[in-house]
Amino acid sequence: MTNSENRLTKNDRPSPINKEIIIDDEAVLISITDPEGYILEVNDVFVETSGYSEKELIGAAHNVIRHPDMPKVLFKIVWEHIKDRENVMALVKNLAKDGRYYWILTDFITKVDAKREIVSYTAYRRPVCKEVQDAIAPLYKALCAIEAVADMDASEKFLLDYLENKGMTYDEMVEDIIIKHCKKAAALGFGGNLADDFKTMSTEKKQSFFNKLFRIK
Ligand SMILES: Cc1cc2nc3c(=O)[nH]c(=O)nc-3n(C[C@H](O)[C@H](O)[C@H](O)COP(=O)(O)O)c2cc1C
Repeated sequence: MTNSENRLTKNDRPSPINKEIIIDDEAVLISITDPEGYILEVNDVFVETSGYSEKELIGAAHNVIRHPDMPKVLFKIVWEHIKDRENVMALVKNLAKDGRYYWILTDFITKVDAKREIVSYTAYRRPVCKEVQDAIAPLYKALCAIEAVADMDASEKFLLDYLENKGMTYDEMVEDIIIKHCKKAAALGFGGNLADDFKTMSTEKKQSFFNKLFRIK
């Protein structure tokens, strides 16, 4: 683990501006962290999009790119999954160094050693279209509004009630949004009605669908 005194922290975060960074549709933004969430490795597209230099990013806590429009409870869910060695997908709005934002679908993957000890976490990110952003943003806005006046238990309760009403886990809701609103997903050819196909699809086929979406070889 890098342990530089000068590493970036969340106090270095810029003020957000309401301007989107348009990311190439084919881009995959990758970062790898140690078990505490400090950045170990980043790929070029991640560096370029973030606006920070690779040198600034390595060793920084990953929350340096956290956007204030992201509810805390979302990261609680992510960390609960990855610490349990379960992969999880999340829709995330990130903050670049110049204050602009970008939305991505992020696949969080835990790497373990032979003793099942956690070695690192990897995040693969794909940009998502405006329709996907619009489908998730109102929920995040509601959760942030709760967190502004109450604690995270309150936003967690709201989220769990919301998901229970939908009859879905957070992951399933993300999948549902992608299937219904992601133009890229429609182009992958899983039949006419992707949302219905997806419900009956085997886990293996779903995996291959998301691998294609993420272009993971
Ligand atoms: C591999 C990995 C990638 C992450 N990527 C992001 C990211 O892109 N954006 C983000 O805001 N948080 C990301 N996080 C979560 C952060 O570690 C942190 O939990 C989050 O920014 C909330 O931080 P805070 O509660 O300290 O404000 C990532 C964590 C891991 C392990």
